[in-house]
Amino acid sequence: MASAKILVLSALVASSTASLAPLHYKTIPLGSVQPKGWIYDQLVVQMNGLAGHEHEFYELVSDTDWIGGDAFYSVLEEAGSYWFDGLIPSAVLTNNEPIKKKTLEFLNYVLDNQDESGWLGPEVNTTKPRYLWGRYPFFFGAIQLLEVDPSLTEPIVDAMHKFVALAHEMLVNGEGVDKWAATRWEDFVVVLQWLHDNHPRGQEELLVDTMKYLKWTGIPWEQVFSEELFPKSAVENLTNPFEELAWHGVNMAEGLKALGATYRFTHNDSDLEAASVGWDLVFQYHGRPSGIFAADEMLAGLEANRGTELCLVVETMLSGTFLYMVSEDSKYADRVERITYNALPATLTGDMWGRQYLQQQNQISAMNMTPNPFPSDGPESNIFGLEPNYPCCTVAFPKGWPKFVSSAFMVTPDLESLAQIYLGPFETSTVLAGDNHVTVTVDTQYPFGDVLTTTIVAEKAFLYKIRIPSWVENGTIAVNDAAAEGVTPEKGLQYVNVGAGTTVLVLDLPAAVIIEARPHSAVALQRGPLHYAYDIPRTEHVLAVDPHEHRAIDLQMEPAGQWAWAIDPNTAVFRKDGLGTALPSPIFDFGRPPVSLRVQACPVDWPLAGDIFAAPPPENATCTGPERTISLTPYGATKLRVSEFPTFESSIIVEEEMNYAFIEQQP
Ligand SMILES: *[C@@H]1O[C@H](CO)[C@@H](O)[C@H](O)[C@H]1NC(C)=O
Ligand SMILES: *[C@@H]1O[C@H](CO)[C@@H](O)[C@H](O)[C@H]1NC(C)=O
Ligand SMILES: *[C@@H]1O[C@H](CO)[C@@H](O)[C@H](O)[C@H]1NC(C)=O
Ligand SMILES: *[C@@H]1O[C@H](CO)[C@@H](O)[C@H](O)[C@H]1NC(C)=O
Ligand SMILES: *[C@@H]1O[C@H](CO)[C@@H](O)[C@H](O)[C@H]1NC(C)=O
Repeated sequence: MASAKILVLSALVASSTASLAPLHYKTIPLGSVQPKGWIYDQLVVQMNGLAGHEHEFYELVSDTDWIGGDAFYSVLEEAGSYWFDGLIPSAVLTNNEPIKKKTLEFLNYVLDNQDESGWLGPEVNTTKPRYLWGRYPFFFGAIQLLEVDPSLTEPIVDAMHKFVALAHEMLVNGEGVDKWAATRWEDFVVVLQWLHDNHPRGQEELLVDTMKYLKWTGIPWEQVFSEELFPKSAVENLTNPFEELAWHGVNMAEGLKALGATYRFTHNDSDLEAASVGWDLVFQYHGRPSGIFAADEMLAGLEANRGTELCLVVETMLSGTFLYMVSEDSKYADRVERITYNALPATLTGDMWGRQYLQQQNQISAMNMTPNPFPSDGPESNIFGLEPNYPCCTVAFPKGWPKFVSSAFMVTPDLESLAQIYLGPFETSTVLAGDNHVTVTVDTQYPFGDVLTTTIVAEKAFLYKIRIPSWVENGTIAVNDAAAEGVTPEKGLQYVNVGAGTTVLVLDLPAAVIIEARPHSAVALQRGPLHYAYDIPRTEHVLAVDPHEHRAIDLQMEPAGQWAWAIDPNTAVFRKDGLGTALPSPIFDFGRPPVSLRVQACPVDWPLAGDIFAAPPPENATCTGPERTISLTPYGATKLRVSEFPTFESSIIVEEEMNYAFIEQQP
């Protein structure tokens, strides 16, 4: 009797130390959320562009004969892994069979070549040193493949468990952690947590112990993101108390999720609080009106001519989604949505054949700049092309859009409710608790339009939730034929008790124009999920054409018109004249979006710094010519732009009735 009691007790202790704090929300298998409307078109544009073709010609991810043999598969270090992780959801959501097949070949090659020790990757049967990091994006890809094809579960989970046993042994022996693995440990922790949640196979203790070793052998993010030690300006003249790469933008973007991941095995609420503080510090001291933060290699402060690397845009989206699932704090979801609809499209050409390494908030040219405003990056960093400055973003960016789509809907782990976390046109089918088959279709032009019409078909009643962004003002919801009522969100989510059968929800989510204060007394304008910028007319010049793919070009852009404007932000009026008809494709390019802000402006003297980037916005600028009305367009559609403006006081008085009451009517 006594010994049985002891056994039960020790089992309890073991299970509690090896348990993970539950997620508030979890994503549903890849393919369960489908893009619709303009966002489906955006994924098709991505597949018709660089992302869907790079495996045919780009040597880092290509297996074509002219490169020779299996180069494609021998790059599990970075390029192959990133490509695999991004192209799986891209191919699944656009139903691209050739690329689905290619990703399966990649998977099989990697699994077939796992050695007896459990190692995966090009270090098998070589003397190359074994560092853990390159495998993490591969695991994220493999998990998505298994969600689409459950018959892959056994081989993938087998390989993962074999690898985990080896990784644990390596970590215990102080092996496998180079400077990249030391900063990106949280991504492996998230993979291990997926394994623990879904296929633990009795290895909970080993899994949690591996998570702890990863944290102990890695960068102490709780200190990096602490109020006391966090850098409050561009870091080039500061002394970093940590490893140099702790202030590297992409590492920080990944590291933002670290304390949320830690919380799941420490069960210490202070970790969640620290994740939240860190998130706020990054955006307070390095944030951009486009939603993202600046790091042109290292953290870059608030100046509008400094750069944001494309890789960190997509990594911040992924970290924000993870933090939302762990914490249920909708500030993460609000920001992920803002980044996706502004910073991500802004740094890719409309047709998605060219990507920048760095985007600038005020970007008056995209060309070779000597000198350039980026202390640690080269003069070609803001050129749109195949791989200016560094190749990593060419293989990393494709995961941005499709992963946003597949995390747009989430369920509570008890499967009692379904939530739309990201707003936009989507369709989802899933099975909730009690074998309740549910389909949800969201018809909308959001983020361009404010109205979302959602049709839900359910076999049984359930609790549906919809995120109401923090910027919404006077939002309403109408359920079936009932009159519209004001929204009443709890923790950022509107709760709707949906009955069996068909339910139609109409949400109207208007927002006021917000004036954001920026350095040098400059201002930036926001309205709802979109940030607005002056789209500078441009001339384009092709700098280089890839010898194997004529559509892969490096594109220089120069301003072909006035850009040095001051604005009177109090005169800004929202216009949605183009809404209602089908949106053009691609949507994120010059003149395409159907919405704009009209604002009074005047030309000012605004000097260049170097020969071809803008100095900070001038303070107390005086008009050098007559004032006029200019149109600002969604930032994501602009490739050359001014979006942090000096101000002046317009002599034109905007009539009250001209303002919101008038412009909020449908055209
Ligand atoms: C590694 O080398 C051993 C011994 O030559 C061989 O048996 C094994 O098949 C090789 N493994 C791989 C994955 O190539
Ligand atoms: C760093 O120091 C250089 C040289 O003194 C200076 O030009 C630059 O403005 C400084 N940068 C920051 C962010 O303080
Ligand atoms: C929880 O985390 C905080 C902050 O990191 C730490 O000071 C505290 O000791 C931790 N509590 C426990 C019980 O480990
Ligand atoms: C919200 O309603 C108030 C009161 O009617 C109005 O003043 C305000 O302009 C409205 N805001 C928006 C964004 O429609
Ligand atoms: C702008 O004007 C304000 C108020 O007159 C003054 O305090 C400030 O120094 C001026 N800034 C510059 C850069 O001239």
